[in-house]
Amino acid sequence: MAMIGNGVKYAQQLLEQGKLVAIPTETVYGLAANALNEDAVLSIFEVKNRPQFDPLIIHTDSIEKLQHFVTSFPEKALKLATAFMPGPLTLLLPKNNIIPDLVTSGLESVAVRIPKHPLALELLATLDFPLAAPSANPFGYISPTTAAHVQAQLGDKIAYILDGGECSVGIESTIVGFDDEQPVVYRLGGIAVEEIENIVGVVKTMAHSTSNPQAPGMLKSHYAPRKPLTINNLEELLKNYDSQKIGVLSFDKTIPEVPVANQRILSPTRNFSEAAKNLFAYLRQLDALDVAVIYAELLPNQNLGRAINDRLRRAAA
Ligand code: TXA
Ligand code: MG
Repeated sequence: MAMIGNGVKYAQQLLEQGKLVAIPTETVYGLAANALNEDAVLSIFEVKNRPQFDPLIIHTDSIEKLQHFVTSFPEKALKLATAFMPGPLTLLLPKNNIIPDLVTSGLESVAVRIPKHPLALELLATLDFPLAAPSANPFGYISPTTAAHVQAQLGDKIAYILDGGECSVGIESTIVGFDDEQPVVYRLGGIAVEEIENIVGVVKTMAHSTSNPQAPGMLKSHYAPRKPLTINNLEELLKNYDSQKIGVLSFDKTIPEVPVANQRILSPTRNFSEAAKNLFAYLRQLDALDVAVIYAELLPNQNLGRAINDRLRRAAA
């Protein structure tokens, strides 16, 4: 099992030795390594069982440092960075050669972000290299939002988990790239499209495409629990299964036909941020119940509801 603690200094030492450390961020926990050390980066792919064609996000603690890892910064990228960094925003920008090709899976852009979490920022400030960090889950499974989630799945493969408590946002960062300097959203996430549009005007969203070469990680099977999950046809489900064997994830209220113990409500007050924060932990809880199938209700398609629905659809695929 991994050690769990809040030793920033210890995490720093391990990372400087090329080892992996799970780190907290405001979105989800990351599996971090020195992004400039190819062997260390390689071990991220091995531990996660992640294909090397799926590139990694690099993390740093200031816009100034971030500029060392890219070769240009379109005006709208700078506006978004100023508005949302630190925060749940990842920008795809032209890669500087100091970033190994392994990090970007050979792509010419690199994904960069500044996490808004005090421990992560404290750690990043002590390092003289950026951290490559995908979500700290086995490839294809639900992302972790607590140190215990990381321990349960990767604990036997890593030395240390830096415990920063429960992630405050709870879903991954929004990924924005640029097509001819115009922003394109490639992954819906912790910053709503509406918030992005407030800063840079109307943006294109390509997050639902699965054959999108710019975001090879946007595979349909992402975010899946082990149990089958379905987002439609509750009536059909109730006909085909004993109601004791159905788990339910709903937005604001329980479903009368299913035992309450099998149900999780994302936000009784219909608050999107609260729903996002609870999403992955509740999916894990439902996955662990003695049910045969999970029914998830889609949220209104606005604000973080879009990002949550995107994950539910992928989990259902
Ligand atoms: O909130 C987050 O972004 C979390 C925390 C730990 O920072 N990280 C995260 O990483 O979600 P990961 O590896 O689970 O997802 C990163 C996504 C992948 O789908 C990957 O394909 C995409 O970002 N990506 C990374 N670099 C890219 C690049 N250069 N071009 C296009 N897509 C990229
Ligand atoms: Mg991930």
